[in-house]
Amino acid sequence: MPKKQWSRDDYCHVGNSSEVLRSGIPDGHSPSLFLTDPPYNIGHNYGNVSDRLKKDDYHRMIGEVLVSSYEAAADSAHFFMIHYPEAIAEMWSMIMETGWKFRQWLTWVYPSNIGMSNRAWTRASRTVLWLVKDEGGEPKFYPKRIIRPYRNPWDRRVAQLIKDGKRGCSLYDWWEINLTKNVNKEKSDYSNQIPQVLLQRIIRSTTDVGDLVVDPFSGTFSTAKAALATGRLGWGCDMNEETQEYWPEETDFIRDYVEEEYSIDQDQSFDTVRANIGKERMNEMLRWASERLPPSQRKWTIRELDFIEGAQETAETSDESEDEVQKSRSVFDY
Ligand SMILES: C[S@@+](CC[C@H](N)C(=O)[O-])C[C@H]1O[C@@H](n2cnc3c(N)ncnc32)[C@H](O)[C@@H]1O
Repeated sequence: MPKKQWSRDDYCHVGNSSEVLRSGIPDGHSPSLFLTDPPYNIGHNYGNVSDRLKKDDYHRMIGEVLVSSYEAAADSAHFFMIHYPEAIAEMWSMIMETGWKFRQWLTWVYPSNIGMSNRAWTRASRTVLWLVKDEGGEPKFYPKRIIRPYRNPWDRRVAQLIKDGKRGCSLYDWWEINLTKNVNKEKSDYSNQIPQVLLQRIIRSTTDVGDLVVDPFSGTFSTAKAALATGRLGWGCDMNEETQEYWPEETDFIRDYVEEEYSIDQDQSFDTVRANIGKERMNEMLRWASERLPPSQRKWTIRELDFIEGAQETAETSDESEDEVQKSRSVFDY
């Protein structure tokens, strides 16, 4: 099969996305995934594009994009929309009339140091609304590709799962992922840039290499870049002509990307951010603390730390006897 090609001319656009979606998808391709973070209509600076539309006009605009996405989508496809929960609640009946079906309500939480309001607690979360089109059957979903490591690997049941070659559990429906910060090299000056970890998590869990991933409100083209970095064809459109400066390069397309199961995608956990320490230091401290655990717990904990740090040999089947696994059940669920 010839390798897929990607070019800016075919995959990057300026314009009103409900219109561009009708004419600008390359021939012979149907998007498997729409992944987008629409304007929130709260007055951000998007160049020539207003982020303060009248509420009815705003809802109509989002509705038109959902309908043209549904028409352009493959018969089995996903639509993920990142937004504030109250905004989605307000648009709910309109969203349900676009053809897309509700699949899951995910919550993205992020540590934020800003905010001390007298009226409400600090906002540090957004909704990731997952919708599907299933006219061609269930859309693809690969929950094993990105997992969270076991929290109590010494537990008898968990140790058995690890011996059987399992490497972790399905993700929860709430995700702790840090905001894209100024110190981060992926950060540009544009409002609401979505972190690569979150985008790649959705892309890798719902599509295959070579599939077409579309973001109708591209901003910094972060979704297209996440798609290209994982071997998918990333398509983007934005009405703000200034966003052309963020268009990906052809060299961003990693066409030889190989998918794997049981990846841990988090680069920095909440706790390391709070403690203001790096991942390596955190792991050093956990290893130091593990030395104080009973031997059977220590062994399993260190195996998991090895795995989290990328040591492949931890995936090998263990030949340890059951006696070495702590018999008592952990108080934690896994
Ligand atoms: C929240 S930002 C997207 C940021 C993006 N997720 C990122 O990571 O950089 C929303 C974008 O939608 C664009 N936009 C607003 N209305 C649009 C429309 N009708 N068609 C296309 N783009 C639009 C704005 O210019 C803005 O760049």
